[in-house]
Amino acid sequence: MIPQWIIEKKRDGGVLSDSEIREFVDAFTEGTVPDYQMSALAMAIYFKGMTIAETAALTLAMLESGTRLDTTPLGRPTADKHSTGGIGDKISLILAPLVAACGVAVPMISGRGLGITGGTLDKLEAIPGYRTDLTEKAFLKVVNTCGCSIIGQTRRLAPADRKLYALRDVTGTVPSIPLITASILSKKLAEDLDALVLDVKCGRGAFMKTPAMARNLAKTLVQVATALGTRTAAVISAMDLPTGCAVGNAPEVAEAIAALQGQASADVEDLTLTLGCRMLLLTRVCRTPAEARTRLCDAWKSGRGLDIFRKMIELQQGNSRVIDRPELLFKGAQRQVVKAPRAGFVTAINSEDIGRACLILGAGRQRTTDRVDPTAGVADLKQVGTSVSRGEPLAVLVSRSSHAFPEAVQFIGRAFELQDRPPARPAKLILGACV
Ligand code: URA
Repeated sequence: MIPQWIIEKKRDGGVLSDSEIREFVDAFTEGTVPDYQMSALAMAIYFKGMTIAETAALTLAMLESGTRLDTTPLGRPTADKHSTGGIGDKISLILAPLVAACGVAVPMISGRGLGITGGTLDKLEAIPGYRTDLTEKAFLKVVNTCGCSIIGQTRRLAPADRKLYALRDVTGTVPSIPLITASILSKKLAEDLDALVLDVKCGRGAFMKTPAMARNLAKTLVQVATALGTRTAAVISAMDLPTGCAVGNAPEVAEAIAALQGQASADVEDLTLTLGCRMLLLTRVCRTPAEARTRLCDAWKSGRGLDIFRKMIELQQGNSRVIDRPELLFKGAQRQVVKAPRAGFVTAINSEDIGRACLILGAGRQRTTDRVDPTAGVADLKQVGTSVSRGEPLAVLVSRSSHAFPEAVQFIGRAFELQDRPPARPAKLILGACV
């Protein structure tokens, strides 16, 4: 295998064979293909794209660069959900225990924040003591005991993705559909799932800014995962508005707990049920959408989802008292209210600006080496359609670094659009699906 010939072939728009892709990825994982050649190939892929067969070969090569879990001993159908990243997207925290309560095992391997989008792991680490670094054996034991577990990518899972992602992050090659597809699926399919549901975010606060881009990514993800033998569906959901009323680490965990206690905002409930229904249908635990919805709603109303969330926190050494005392999530945090500059109706909230405010408050990383503030974020966001009087709170900033408040206030002020009349119609949340 001559790496530069493979790079040149892709640069000139050629179609790579399975063995060319496999040998290149294997050599990169071992370190015999240096970072500069992998970066050059990533850039060639960025410009020339890949066919579905090439993307599937890349996904498989990256998946098989590491180990694959064996979920057979769980003796239950397995499913997971993956979101391409949004602002205020705490759905995994609510969905995993609810789906587990319906008899499906959910072995969820999640990521950290990327850019302004938050990561499930950073959020969970706001729970004092919660460990996201379990071994694969301990992870499967938690899934077996309570039905779900959420941890981070282990060193053994898809190491080629870990190495390649670090290069893509600094070479301008993140927003490439074949590279995103191989990156997401190499990790998710290593979980040995019966079914996978993808939430492809679309809008200002997402990587995919237009419906056409989101549809293209959704289609590619579904085609590749299906070709590799996992029943997969994708939902395209709007990410112009933040999801729910809180964005950031502790604020989103607090919102997820409240949601599991029955106080979910309409968008959080809608998205959770939409994704959960797909998981129950794809695993064939339910036969009709109506049956799946009833089953999820029962798990939600009865508190079984909340019980499983509590148990998962305990099994991962977290302090489950946060469920009854969410203030324990906010140790050392300071708060500042952002007030409405005028009376009116909230007609839009720019999720990108809310994400930027959270970054300034310390909820995400400006450099990969930064430590996140587990308490940081924005809480009590007024929802679109709400009327406010002048001086009424629009949102509450939370951070251990109060010196960040003045800059964050500017972003929140910019994010809210206030008008004399309410919006004509509610913004659409579910934009489409791909099965
Ligand atoms: N999430 C991933 O895991 N990889 C990508 O490339 C983009 C989002």
